[in-house]
Amino acid sequence: MKRKVQITTTMALKRKSKQFKWQRKHLLGLRDLSAEEITYILDTATGFEQVSRRSVKKAPPLRGKVVVNLFFEDSTRTRNSFALAANRLSADIIEFTKKASSVSKGETLLDTARNLEAMGIDIVVVRHNAGGASRFLSRNIKACVINAGDGFCEHPTQGLLDVYTIRKIKGSLDGLKIAIVGDIAHSRVARSDMWAMTKLGAEVTFVGPPTLMPAQANLLPVKMSYCLDEVIEKVDVINMLRIQFERLGGNPFPSIREYSHYFGLTVERMKRAKSDILVMHPGPINRGLEIESEVADGRNSVILEQVTNGLAVRMAVLFLVNQAAAQQKG
Ligand code: CP
Repeated sequence: MKRKVQITTTMALKRKSKQFKWQRKHLLGLRDLSAEEITYILDTATGFEQVSRRSVKKAPPLRGKVVVNLFFEDSTRTRNSFALAANRLSADIIEFTKKASSVSKGETLLDTARNLEAMGIDIVVVRHNAGGASRFLSRNIKACVINAGDGFCEHPTQGLLDVYTIRKIKGSLDGLKIAIVGDIAHSRVARSDMWAMTKLGAEVTFVGPPTLMPAQANLLPVKMSYCLDEVIEKVDVINMLRIQFERLGGNPFPSIREYSHYFGLTVERMKRAKSDILVMHPGPINRGLEIESEVADGRNSVILEQVTNGLAVRMAVLFLVNQAAAQQKG
């Protein structure tokens, strides 16, 4: 009966998604999006997956458009995935990195973006350590803005690729129990995941030591647990977060060994998990700290599938914001 309800809900969302018209020229966060909008992006991404399976991995929708990767923080997955997604859609791409730029001479975020805009750009993909940086840019430049991670706030394309991966394997998120474990306080991934997963019908539990839980967590649509051992047997999906040492102030736990003992995903702990649990991680992994290598590379791990799916999701996002901008220009 429960399965029937799940299928009905998923089909209803898919039907709605077919009638839906995408209208946003910016993607700033998943908190802003409805379940229909998220489903529409996922369905669009499904369509783009086949481009990466062709012998010539190119499609024309962004031909003549310019995408800027404006990264003020380091990145391996997000940045290269956006670059490849833009390439696959036939856009030109400018790679900006803070280290090799005039930011070192004091140039501001807005001046940087406006100068790039003066060269004729269409889409800015921005990662910045300040929460709200992408929203600020979207209000001050004409180009489309996509948030590739802003401070502790959101990382919407990571949230989208995470729910895309779960939906692809499990069929639906409706009724799934999902644990997000670790450094929730400093994680923009946890926030975007929480919005996307709960909007699509999953029950999300944040798990970690009290010192790594977000402020006012009682206002968020999640359950909370300080004990991974109480949660591990019950969940369908577990998303392990990296301890963000670069953002920690003080010592949130007595030692790395103690953290791993209570909150690490070990082979031993996995023996008590459901046999079909999905093990996720946004990367980069601190192997042996939040997750043992045998689990990260084990049969339940979908960590590299997340990365693969990120490409189709980012193609969909680039395509949709560009389409909305064109419609708004009339
Ligand atoms: N998941 C993620 O954002 O990874 P990068 O920091 O390498 O982009």
